[in-house]
Amino acid sequence: MEPAKEEESSVQDEAVDKSNFKNCNHIAFYSKTTALKKEDTSIDSSQENQEDLGLWQEEFGSFLDIKANGPSSIGLDFSLHGCEHVYGIPEHAETLLLKNTSDDDAYRLFNLDVYGHKIYDKMGIYGSVPFLLAHKPDRTSGIFWLNSSETLVEINTKAVMEHVPSRSPPDITKQRVVPQTDVHWMSESGIIDVFLLMGPTPFDIFKQYAQLTGTQALPPLFSLGYHQCRWNYEDEQDVKAVDAGFDEHDIPYDVIWLDIEHTESKRYFTWDKKKFQHPERMQELLKRKKRKLVVIIDPHIKVDPMYTLYSEAKKKGYFVKDRKGQDFEGICWPGSSSYLDFTNPEVREWYADQFSFKSYKGSTDILFVWNDMNEPSVFKGAELTMQRDAVHHGNWEHREVHNLYGFYQQMATAEGLIKRSGGQNRPFVLTRSFFAGSQKYGAVWTGDNVAEWSYLKISIPMLLTISIAGISFCGADVGGFIGDPEPELLVRWYQAGAYQPFFRGHANIESKRREPWLFGDENTRIIREAIRERYTLLPYLYSLFYRAHTTAEPVMRPLWVEFPKEQETFGVEDEYMLGNALLVHPVIEQEATTVNVLLPGSDEVWYDLRRFRRLDYPGTLKIPVTLESIPVFQRGGSVVPLKTTVGRSTEWMTDISYELRVALDSKDFAVGELYLDDGHSFQYLHKKQFLHRKFIFHKNVFSSSCADEIGQYHTKCVVERVLILGVQKQPTSVTASLQSKRDGKDKEVVFTYDAKTSTLTLEKLLLNVGADWEIHIK
Ligand code: GLC
Repeated sequence: MEPAKEEESSVQDEAVDKSNFKNCNHIAFYSKTTALKKEDTSIDSSQENQEDLGLWQEEFGSFLDIKANGPSSIGLDFSLHGCEHVYGIPEHAETLLLKNTSDDDAYRLFNLDVYGHKIYDKMGIYGSVPFLLAHKPDRTSGIFWLNSSETLVEINTKAVMEHVPSRSPPDITKQRVVPQTDVHWMSESGIIDVFLLMGPTPFDIFKQYAQLTGTQALPPLFSLGYHQCRWNYEDEQDVKAVDAGFDEHDIPYDVIWLDIEHTESKRYFTWDKKKFQHPERMQELLKRKKRKLVVIIDPHIKVDPMYTLYSEAKKKGYFVKDRKGQDFEGICWPGSSSYLDFTNPEVREWYADQFSFKSYKGSTDILFVWNDMNEPSVFKGAELTMQRDAVHHGNWEHREVHNLYGFYQQMATAEGLIKRSGGQNRPFVLTRSFFAGSQKYGAVWTGDNVAEWSYLKISIPMLLTISIAGISFCGADVGGFIGDPEPELLVRWYQAGAYQPFFRGHANIESKRREPWLFGDENTRIIREAIRERYTLLPYLYSLFYRAHTTAEPVMRPLWVEFPKEQETFGVEDEYMLGNALLVHPVIEQEATTVNVLLPGSDEVWYDLRRFRRLDYPGTLKIPVTLESIPVFQRGGSVVPLKTTVGRSTEWMTDISYELRVALDSKDFAVGELYLDDGHSFQYLHKKQFLHRKFIFHKNVFSSSCADEIGQYHTKCVVERVLILGVQKQPTSVTASLQSKRDGKDKEVVFTYDAKTSTLTLEKLLLNVGADWEIHIK
């Protein structure tokens, strides 16, 4: 029997654009069980009446899973020759390097709501990306197993004998021992649809994977600022007070968040009438302060015929069905709930329309969205999720699409926000559950972590793994969601979060209040510094996101990605690269007085980002730290664009001038770039309104030129300061010339030279950031 191709594509093809992949070997065939399914997933009563259904049903505690299409499972083995380092397949609270599973559980890919999940565990948590990367010094390769049902991945790294062909004498074959990693993929159902990505470099792999699943959406600039969340900010007064607290304490922030309690008894798209009487007025106030609001919108819908969203969805048949054809009902925050079937394009369109200002009363254009509980979470369900035999649009059983449920909710939400703005503005949607391709719709976070040092520590490999699986915009709740962090942990978490892509403080309803100023003046000052550092770094971060968006380079990357030949980097997970220029080693140990930092690359030069000290001898260094230290190092050969100061939020900072931090390598060379646009619209795409600048330091000339002639964007913003690290001797003169001015007159530049740190500082430059110019150092 021919498989029902149309139905297949309606569910899976939107996750993956298969039309234009290159350099990937694609294997796809249908398992017998899949080919036999579909016509009707309702239960055959003659089967149900059978006394022994054998493999056609399975008990899970008190739950019975009826397999209307019979038992099924698909699997395939791969042997990765010469490889002993494999990565990817998020999401697990595990190490960066995947472990051997021969004596342990397999890595499980099954989206689940696990409150305070265990760490160093291979159980499935909120998201799944069935993409594995293998790396050896001369090649990176990838396996993308496109299947959204429960998937197990076994990994077995071993030493094998390999024959070495020898010419003389011809009859003697030599043998040598080489590593090999066997990877066994197994999915509960569906088809075998697998892509082998050939690399050979890590960046080739990222591109090849992005050709299949899409690149990171370019986030609106505000969403790279700091987010203040808690379950819950109580009412309008509370929101106002917290917002004012940031100004009083001179701490920049961009977004305040409202959790489930802001709604009328957990009816999403509504407001609690007592606590949030004037939501528009509240948003007006935030808008005047150039800030945003994010509200939570979960996928479960309260069963209540008086709730329009529910009654309309019910009437239209938009809920997932149980195996008997009734609307699936489960328990979640509102009590009895039904679950919108986001796999249905019609439901997604209808859902997207709910975000229009007309439908969503009390919403304004500064309101953005957080999709939570979308694994989906079903309290009292088997493993706290939906029955696998529930039925979706097109008669797909839930087991087939389980790991895609959250993906489709985020997709519909992002489309809703775009639609709401008439196609003008970029959306911001945070999701807890995700799948391959979720990067196209926004950001993800790692869910309900705990306010303990070990969770701070594991956030780094977790975020690195998510990042190399295509989702650059990721973060972990700063402070730890569950419990109460001691002040030192909170401070360290802010410092770590400031250098991670998505930066949000969040706390459980039972946790004590923990706005950044509640822990004494000294801790407030240090947290303020960390957040301010984040804001000065935004030009660099935004440029990295542009790269992630256009060329699929992860924003946060494991060291091995930048140093693919340096074996000692392959297992490093306590430090990472932010782009190609900054190496970040967050302090994750209590009462640390030193950290051991690996500065890789035998001919690299590194500089302490704050003190400018040059570290000429790469290797592992013991770096002293105080509570204020965030060990960050700039790689020689790079230029990092920064803002010279910060404002109350990103929008306050549009006109603030730039500083360029130039770090010379051993050949006195450096290169870097800056991407700039209006920060919120799609004009960069449709009208090419952007600036992409390139900075090069070469032979004592520092120049700014256009990196992409297609882009045009007018800005008054100037480069005010240039710091050049690693200048060996004091110059006698420094001059600047604008390329557009042909009068031949070079302007003298005010400079200071610090012989101790070999730093040359050029000030008061006033060079337009969009202009071509040169600075000559003699
Ligand atoms: C879940 C989320 C958490 C949120 C809570 C209430 O536990 O992971 O972030 O605060 O639900 O909505």
